[in-house]
Amino acid sequence: MNKPAIEGGNSVRDVFLPFSPPDIHDEEINAVTEVLKSKWITRGKKCEEFENLLAEYTGADYVVVLNSATAGLFLSLKIAGIGDGDEIITTPYTFAATANVILHSGAKPVFADIEADTFLISPQEIRKKISPNTRAVIPIHFAGHPAEIDTLTDIAKLHNLIIIEDAAHAIGAEYKGKKVGNGQQIAVFSFHAVKNLTTAEGGAVTTNDRNFAEQMKLYSLHGQTKDAFAKLLAGGWKYDITVPGYKFNMTDIQAAIGIQQLKRLDENRKKREEIAGQYSHFFKQFDFIKIPEVKKGITHGWHLYPLIIDFSSLRIDRDRFILALGKENISSNVHFIPLHTMSYYRKTFGFKPYDFPAAYSVFLNEISLPLYPGMRAKDVNDILEAFSKLITYYKK
Ligand SMILES: Cc1ncc(COP(=O)(O)O)c(C=O)c1O
Repeated sequence: MNKPAIEGGNSVRDVFLPFSPPDIHDEEINAVTEVLKSKWITRGKKCEEFENLLAEYTGADYVVVLNSATAGLFLSLKIAGIGDGDEIITTPYTFAATANVILHSGAKPVFADIEADTFLISPQEIRKKISPNTRAVIPIHFAGHPAEIDTLTDIAKLHNLIIIEDAAHAIGAEYKGKKVGNGQQIAVFSFHAVKNLTTAEGGAVTTNDRNFAEQMKLYSLHGQTKDAFAKLLAGGWKYDITVPGYKFNMTDIQAAIGIQQLKRLDENRKKREEIAGQYSHFFKQFDFIKIPEVKKGITHGWHLYPLIIDFSSLRIDRDRFILALGKENISSNVHFIPLHTMSYYRKTFGFKPYDFPAAYSVFLNEISLPLYPGMRAKDVNDILEAFSKLITYYKK
């Protein structure tokens, strides 16, 4: 039997396969150079152009680009007037930013468990968590799979709640034929380095609500009535501060990268989907492995490929399996360590791991595989070979 590298055998690969390197081409490099040479490098025409292109792409009436999704989530709560005494429902199966911003707004994060098959917030669990203080729900389009927006909208209407979509993973994804971020709800995208569209760091908020978009822009730049670019124009030096804003704007350097990335987004999503298809085709042969579920009527963004392995079928646990993959020179990751198990949340709210049984059980058995458009056929084959080798060796 082929011995795993962690047991002293040879590695499947000689060179380490990274988890999610950015897809940067000469077009991005040239676009950045152009901005650097233009003598205008912070928010200016490129940010505006990027906002217009994103509006066209998503179908939203208004887009505001920012320095991160975190800023977009925070400002969305702020502009919605959320604060002390309010409760915001979200899932613990997310990155810290989603719940941290709720705390920064002064409100209380109230966790609702996920559906074990999709890792998406459970509408049923939301219903259980609604109180007179609930003001908003933040669903996460986990891995690029849109949450059940229609059901969530029905719940929101019934209880007069705002929906703020955490679409950090979901640029390019669709729900019932419409792009995520089409403006019907507030949606917040991330363009962080590992995301499907990157500006190194960055984010965008999409909405059909003009007043909300104007507030978003205002709050993202100190509450100034004019940005620096507008001030530069003849006689443009006067401005007012109408609210105590923040410094959350994107720069033209980032926007220039984003404009090029957007051109390849659909093509790259297809490449991700093809790789995900190869993975699923391979893994479905194992009865102790659950491949990601894709619900009818959606287009998956395929930001992540999360696999659930029942490790009780193997003589190795999840954490050592990840180490063993690493020794084969294959990277992997875990999405997510549930927030309710993080020390701050645990201590502040007194959570126990199984308070959210679906989130915790999924976490214990989850492994995310490398998934990016630059992967070659050999890379995918190496991953499958490494899995085959480890599964064969460790199968009970
Ligand atoms: C689900 C989710 N929400 C929010 C964020 C925050 O995004 P950003 O880094 O752009 O602030 C992330 C980042 O990874 C995320 O995964």
